[in-house]
Amino acid sequence: MNDTTGPGDDVQLITLDVNGTSHEVITAPRRTLVDVLRHDLRLTGTHVGCEHGICGACTVLVDGLPVRACLMFAAQAEGARITTVESLADPATGELGDLQRAFTAHHGLQCGFCTPGFLMLAQGFLAERPEATKEDIREVVAANLCRCTGYQTIVEAIDACATARRSQRATGAEEESCN
Ligand code: FES
Ligand code: FES
Repeated sequence: MNDTTGPGDDVQLITLDVNGTSHEVITAPRRTLVDVLRHDLRLTGTHVGCEHGICGACTVLVDGLPVRACLMFAAQAEGARITTVESLADPATGELGDLQRAFTAHHGLQCGFCTPGFLMLAQGFLAERPEATKEDIREVVAANLCRCTGYQTIVEAIDACATARRSQRATGAEEESCN
């Protein structure tokens, strides 16, 4: 994986809001968001695959919307709310979030390389479209590449999580579970 800083690049101070925490980073203007997340902030849950916008392994949320972090300069994300896969688990206990548990329960991953990208794609999508059908989900996950699962289990996992969230909203339950 290539870091996008080159020799002799000018640097600038930028402030990034990541998972609710503000970070000051000194970086070159053309450095990508994914490089700053992984190399400067050590948030290595966001993966890098193709580095040119095809695979979706680097998907994070920017102001709630899924974005390919290899296609965005870190400086462009200043002032926005950036959310990475690290936000899904409970920060105090490390307990996995409902969407992560659903991926586990429904075998939505094998090697796991693509998984952070699918999780963030799904998290952004379900926030926007909580009533999404399985067909809607199938269409959305086609945006990212997985070489292992054949996609069906990923669709099942996201659909199970969406269904559980809907039922919890309906019953007013506070605890979320997709298992
Ligand atoms: S690494 Fe960003 S889309 Fe593949
Ligand atoms: S689980 Fe291996 S690439 Fe998706």
